[in-house]
Amino acid sequence: MPQTTLHLHTAHTIDTVDPRIFGGFLEHLGRAVYDGLVDPDSAAPRGWVMDALRPLKMTAMRYPGGNFVSGYHWEDGVGPKDQRPTMRDLAWQSIEPNRFGTDEFMDVCRDMDWTPMMSVNLGTGTPEEARNWLEYCNGPAGTKYADMRVANGHADPHDIKLWCLGNEMDGPWQLGHVPADQYAIRAQQAAKMMRDFDPTIEMVACGSCTTGIASYLEWDRTVLEYLGDYADHISIHRYVGNDDGDTPRYLAVTDSIDAQIEATDALCKFVQARKKTKKRATICFDEWNIWYRERGGDGRQQFAPHLLEEIYNVEDMLVAAGFLMSFVRNADSVKIANIAQIVNVIAPVMTRGDELFRQTIYWPFEMMTTRRDGKALRVATDGPSYDAGKAGQVPVTDSAAILGDGTVSVFVANRDLSKPHEVAVDLAGASLASVESAEVVAGPDPQAANSFENPDQIIKRPLDGVAIKDGVATFELPPLSFAALTFKLA
Ligand code: AHR
Repeated sequence: MPQTTLHLHTAHTIDTVDPRIFGGFLEHLGRAVYDGLVDPDSAAPRGWVMDALRPLKMTAMRYPGGNFVSGYHWEDGVGPKDQRPTMRDLAWQSIEPNRFGTDEFMDVCRDMDWTPMMSVNLGTGTPEEARNWLEYCNGPAGTKYADMRVANGHADPHDIKLWCLGNEMDGPWQLGHVPADQYAIRAQQAAKMMRDFDPTIEMVACGSCTTGIASYLEWDRTVLEYLGDYADHISIHRYVGNDDGDTPRYLAVTDSIDAQIEATDALCKFVQARKKTKKRATICFDEWNIWYRERGGDGRQQFAPHLLEEIYNVEDMLVAAGFLMSFVRNADSVKIANIAQIVNVIAPVMTRGDELFRQTIYWPFEMMTTRRDGKALRVATDGPSYDAGKAGQVPVTDSAAILGDGTVSVFVANRDLSKPHEVAVDLAGASLASVESAEVVAGPDPQAANSFENPDQIIKRPLDGVAIKDGVATFELPPLSFAALTFKLA
């Protein structure tokens, strides 16, 4: 059986893993909000959907878009529900009744222990509108917009710390898309007013929405240079897919996620050096997922239409694990990341009426988020590689590790389509004493998926047969599998 050894050292830390890399994204899109997280008519939160999401322990929750936000006016979504306007959403050609808005979102955040992360409209909205929204959310009673919130039943400020300066403003599809220098001016105007109003907030500037766009990195450089210290983070996005039906190539995509992060981090360092400033923007990977089958975004003027309802299989599960492992490996530069999205729309959880099932991608998220506390460790991989075609030669295993408090957690995927793989974990600086927990989610059919009829075909199961001898752990991974193990240290 092929074998890989993962060499770790407790002293070889990268950085503390920011829990916010286990964030989510809720957009007014398709059946994400209405007929997803909330009842379509009353907009009351659905407890059974929230209960399915709870084990994912999501942190930063980005809202309300996405492309939607670039045509959204927050005042439409507050106040008495029967007085809120019904609007046409041009981003997804859908009908938006505004029954769910800022205050309803905040109620859900409190219930779920999510950290709200608001995206302001810098497409069709003005910088001042963004500043007014901040006052509505964070201002103490006594001034116009803060008093609006009080009148709407929320005496205490929502105290929202994370604010995104628009969404994908580099994309020609975005409402209000402009060239980088014009976006930078708009974002700087909004950022200045917002920071003047509340100096405690963190702000995220729009970076490149994909690596394939002609302005890739050039856009980010312009924006970061202009925004200076207003940009705490630069946003990047990535959606991937197996468009050509080439599973080995698809599974190697995780290497290019590392490359995208490294390139953006290099740019942040370049701008920091040029500006001779102590401050360096870090990465907010605020949209990531697999999205290639259900690309159509035309809601045909319907309310809560079925849009972007991707069904995820085993190979997608391994790619989702790859994204998360890449964020851990890059813990020094990636401080926030948001799986796009959370319910029904390119999501880990799907609903139909009052039924629900968990998609394959749910499991690596759950297995990693429950082991997220600690410092990322460098992993030196000694094992076979495979030819991934256009993606080049890549290791058969993909891995990451986190040093916790008296524990070490190891995450590892076997990308081999047909063969099991033996993995050894060799830790220096401390010795592995015992196995605290070990779980695996596996194929072998790369196309196997869960469904309403068969919801538990692909789920996490205990990983048996983990042995520790002379401080080295060994275990066998089935073909096309992802495992998460936590060891107690002696
Ligand atoms: O998540 C779906 C869409 O993808 C978002 O609205 C947009 O920002 C991106 O293009």
